[in-house]
Amino acid sequence: MSEESISSTPTPLPTRLSRLRNWLSLSGFVLAVSAFFAFVLLFSVDLFATHANPYMGILAYVVAPSFLLAGLAIVVLGYILETRRIPKDHPEMVSSFVLHVNLARQRDRRLLVGFVGGSLGFLFLTALGSYQTYHMTETNSFCGEVCHTPMEPQFKAYQHSAHAKVACVACHVGPGAGNYIRTKVSGMRQLYHMILGDFNRPITLHNVNQRPAQETCQSCHWSQKHTGDLQKTYRHFLADETNTPFTVQMVLKVGGSDPVHGPVEGIHSHMNVSNKVEFIATDESRMKIPWVKVTDANGKVTEYRTKEFTDDISKHPIRTMDCMDCHNRPSHKYLSPNAAVDQSMAYGRIDPAIPWAKAKVVKALVQPYATREEANQKIESFLRAEYPDEKRIDALVAEAKAIYKVNFFPEMKVDWRIHPDLIGHKDTNGCFRCHDGKHLAADGKTSIKGSDCTACHLIVAQGAGKDLEKVDPKGLPFFHIDSENSDPSCNECHNGQNQD
Ligand code: HEC
Ligand code: HEC
Ligand code: HEC
Ligand code: HEC
Ligand code: HEC
Ligand code: HEC
Repeated sequence: MSEESISSTPTPLPTRLSRLRNWLSLSGFVLAVSAFFAFVLLFSVDLFATHANPYMGILAYVVAPSFLLAGLAIVVLGYILETRRIPKDHPEMVSSFVLHVNLARQRDRRLLVGFVGGSLGFLFLTALGSYQTYHMTETNSFCGEVCHTPMEPQFKAYQHSAHAKVACVACHVGPGAGNYIRTKVSGMRQLYHMILGDFNRPITLHNVNQRPAQETCQSCHWSQKHTGDLQKTYRHFLADETNTPFTVQMVLKVGGSDPVHGPVEGIHSHMNVSNKVEFIATDESRMKIPWVKVTDANGKVTEYRTKEFTDDISKHPIRTMDCMDCHNRPSHKYLSPNAAVDQSMAYGRIDPAIPWAKAKVVKALVQPYATREEANQKIESFLRAEYPDEKRIDALVAEAKAIYKVNFFPEMKVDWRIHPDLIGHKDTNGCFRCHDGKHLAADGKTSIKGSDCTACHLIVAQGAGKDLEKVDPKGLPFFHIDSENSDPSCNECHNGQNQD
């Protein structure tokens, strides 16, 4: 445009605005406008989407604005370059830098058509691109796989859970404006740590989105439901030479908590429907609960505390118990090596006829390994050394590695010890954090209701073979294989990795 557009008559100094009339500034302008439209689009999709998405925040509030800023910076750059091109002592040359579009000239017409066409195309592609990207971030593979290393344990465990078909965002982005903004902010923070690679190993909920709210579960599960009894079978194999089977068949009294839909009874009687349980935890992972308060349907309040806990309660935050205080692993459950090997034996993937198989596979799994590769190598070499003449060794090694693959994540330092399942009481304190008989009411005698062996479940059959036929619907006293030990604090001995 330069030489050709020099006009013969001198023109006045360019106004500030006219210095913006250069191709660089114009392109910057188009970029900025596109980014702005992309932002508006993403923002509205995000606002009206049924399940808001944490990563949308990154696109709408980080990526789009960055392009907007870049566009504006290019506009300014064009302006500065244009200004610099005016020689100070030759103001008469100024006009040459003013963008003259003369539609009578073919060259200008072509340039203009190209520019407008290009800009429209760019705008269209930005809009389409943003929308597609939005959809991509909605998918579970985005949450689970794009952040591959940090999310791998949660993603793998999730794929083997009852919620494998429930979107991550359905649980991790709660309802309401507060949650919406919190997730945006935390999504950005996660991306930042992801890029820097300085995310925590393991990831716990103190640095991921806050834990789902009870309302989140209730968007699919109806807490008024009376579940009644559930029958469950727990199949174990002892860590002895013959891998002796030991099975417990139980009726879990899940019950319900809404008097309209059934009696208020059993395990689900504390669902915050007709009563409310509050507690104080003295550690972050809420394993130590020395104080509990229950408010029943009539408003009657009872407080329980352990003997050791003499603090003034106003010094501690009080939490209302919700689904996750029992179901803390609804979708990211890491099996303990005992549970995993029991399962493989019960399903016939490890042959219980291999002597000491339970003990040895558990032993191979629990060694400290730094990486998955190292684990795979050492698990294999250990088992091959233990069973030099075993015909089924290939299958045994393969199954041990398969167990390791979905339950152990050495790079992220995640396994059942980091994220214990609190639904029962055998390997962790679980229910016994409160129902241990040591939380007493003001009288110093009454313990929390539901703290004896038949309050939560009945054992209908136990043992192996013929023993399992001796069914008693009224419930049997627990026959402990290690009969001298009947201490209710089961997890003093059971830790998920017993090898003897
Ligand atoms: C059924 C609901 C649900 C779904 C679906 C779900 N999560 Fe979770 N997630 C939870 C709960 C509950 C916790 C925390 C439990 C606790 O308090 O310890 C959690 C915890 C986490 C944590 C923190 C670390 C941990 O294990 O405690 C991460 C990371 C995580 N989820 C990622 C994901 C990803 C990625 C997906 C999808 C692949 C997903 N979640 C799907 C319910 C869910
Ligand atoms: C988007 C819907 C949805 C949400 C949200 C959801 N769930 Fe579920 N949940 C399901 C479905 C569907 C199943 C049944 C899966 C099956 O058995 O095939 C299920 C099953 C379960 C089960 C039975 C598990 C089993 O092993 O059979 C439990 C317990 C449970 N959910 C707890 C929770 C908790 C706790 C939350 C909140 C953190 C939650 N769910 C959030 C849909 C949901
Ligand atoms: C006091 C602990 C506790 C609380 C609180 C609790 N549950 Fe449960 N829930 C259990 C136990 C124990 C079972 C039996 C299943 C098991 O042992 O895995 C169960 C079973 C279930 C099942 C499976 C029912 C079936 O028919 O298979 C669902 C779904 C469920 N709970 C959802 C919830 C939801 C949603 C909440 C919160 C509103 C909640 N639970 C609160 C302890 C609890
Ligand atoms: C934070 C403490 C706490 C935890 C953890 C807890 N509970 Fe409770 N539970 C209570 C309180 C408090 C009550 C009400 C007791 C009362 O009314 O005296 C209760 C009541 C019950 C009842 C009803 C007893 C009755 O006869 O009315 C059952 C059954 C029960 N819980 C089972 C469980 C199971 C199963 C778990 C573990 C999955 C569990 N609880 C975990 C505090 C807890
Ligand atoms: C507060 C409720 C509660 C009390 C009290 C309680 N249990 Fe349990 N127990 C549970 C729940 C819930 C499970 C199921 C856990 C699961 O589904 O993984 C369970 C599971 C078990 C199992 C099967 C575990 C397995 O892996 O094989 C045995 C055995 C057992 N309980 C024995 C006892 C004995 C003995 C007592 C008395 C000292 C007792 N329970 C008291 C709630 C309770
Ligand atoms: C003093 C230690 C100790 C205490 C306390 C204890 N156990 Fe055991 N338990 C053992 C030993 C040892 C075995 C045999 C383990 C093996 O050979 O695999 C065993 C075996 C079992 C088994 C069958 C095999 C298996 O690995 O699951 C069950 C079920 C069991 N215990 C449940 C419980 C329950 C429930 C409690 C609490 C009420 C409890 N135990 C308390 C030491 C203990």
